[in-house]
Amino acid sequence: MIPGYTSPSMQAAQRQAIPKLSLKHISKNFHTKTGKFNAVEDINLEVKAGEFICIVGPSGCGKTTVLNIIAGLEKPDGGDALVDGTPIKGPGTDRLVIFQDLALFPWLTVSKNVEFGLRLAGVSKKERQERAMHFLKMVHLTRFSNSCIHELSGGMKQRVALARALAINPDILLMDEPFAALDAQTRDILHEELQEIWVATKKTIIFVTHNVREAACLGDRVLVFATHPGRIKQQFQLMCTRPRHIEDPGLMVYAKAILAELKAEVEKVAKEELDYDWRTVTKKPVLRLDDRNLGSGT
Ligand SMILES: Nc1ncnc2c1ncn2[C@@H]1O[C@H](COP(=O)(O)OP(=O)(O)O)[C@@H](O)[C@H]1O
Ligand SMILES: [Mg+2]
Repeated sequence: MIPGYTSPSMQAAQRQAIPKLSLKHISKNFHTKTGKFNAVEDINLEVKAGEFICIVGPSGCGKTTVLNIIAGLEKPDGGDALVDGTPIKGPGTDRLVIFQDLALFPWLTVSKNVEFGLRLAGVSKKERQERAMHFLKMVHLTRFSNSCIHELSGGMKQRVALARALAINPDILLMDEPFAALDAQTRDILHEELQEIWVATKKTIIFVTHNVREAACLGDRVLVFATHPGRIKQQFQLMCTRPRHIEDPGLMVYAKAILAELKAEVEKVAKEELDYDWRTVTKKPVLRLDDRNLGSGT
C-alpha cells in the first residue's frame, strides 16, 4: 500500500462514516433588553444521510434556532455545526427550510413559484419548466400549475412549498412545523406522501413539530427538547416499519413515552411562566360518562 494513498472504495467508506450533519456543543445566546438570553446550550447531534429526524419540545425551547443554525441563517456562539464534515458558513442550496407560513410568492403562479430558485441558480427556461413539472407531479399538483397561490387550500400551498424546495435538490430539508395549521385529514394525507417522497428522494429531513403522534409517525428518531436553556433531553429510536399511519397501534407506545417526556417539560415551562396558583388538570375528567347524554332535545 502506498503511504497516504486511499483507494476509491476506502474514500467511499470514509464518506459513509462522516455524518451528513453534526452539531457539536452548539450554544446560542440572544441579547435582549433584560440581558443575555441563553436560547440553546450544548446541543450534540449526529444525523446520518437519509435519516428522518423529528424534534418536539415546548414553545421557546430553541427548535427554530437550531434549524436556523443548520440552515446557516444564525451563527452559533459556541460549538461546531458541520455538513459532510465541513463547517457551515452560511445559507446554501444544500439545506433548505420550509416554514409554517411558507413564504410563497402570491404574485407568481404555482409553477413559477417552483421555478423561482432554479431561475436564481441560472437554470435554463426549458429545464426549469421540466423540473417544476416533475416535482409538481410528485406532489400531485400538475393540474394547478398555472393557478395563483390565493386559489389554493392550505394543504395545496404546503405541496407547492415542498415542490419548490425539492426542485432545488437540497441534501437536507429543514421543516419547521410545516403542517401545524392544516386540518387533521389533510395532514394525514401529507404524512403518507411525505414518507413516499422521502423514500423516493433519499433526503435527510429534520422536521420540527409540536404534535407527538406526528413525530412518531414520521421520524426514524425523535428528539425531545428541554427548555431554558434549550437542549436535547431524550432521544427515541423508532423501529416501526413504513409506511406508517398516525393511528397505527404500534406507534402509540412510542407516542406515549415521548408525550410523558414532553409533558414534564411543558409543565416546567408553565410553572415558570404562569401564576403561582397554576396546577395541571389531571384527576378530574372534563366530561363524565353521564354528561355525554345531552338529552333527546324534546
Ligand atoms: N432574534 C431573537 N432575539 C431574542 N430572542 C430570541 C430571538 N430568536 C429567538 N429568541 C428566543 O429564543 C428562544 C428560542 O426561540 P425559538 O428557537 O424560536 O423557540 P421554538 O422554535 O422552540 O419555539 C425563545 O425564548 C425566543 O423568545
Ligand atoms: Mg419555532
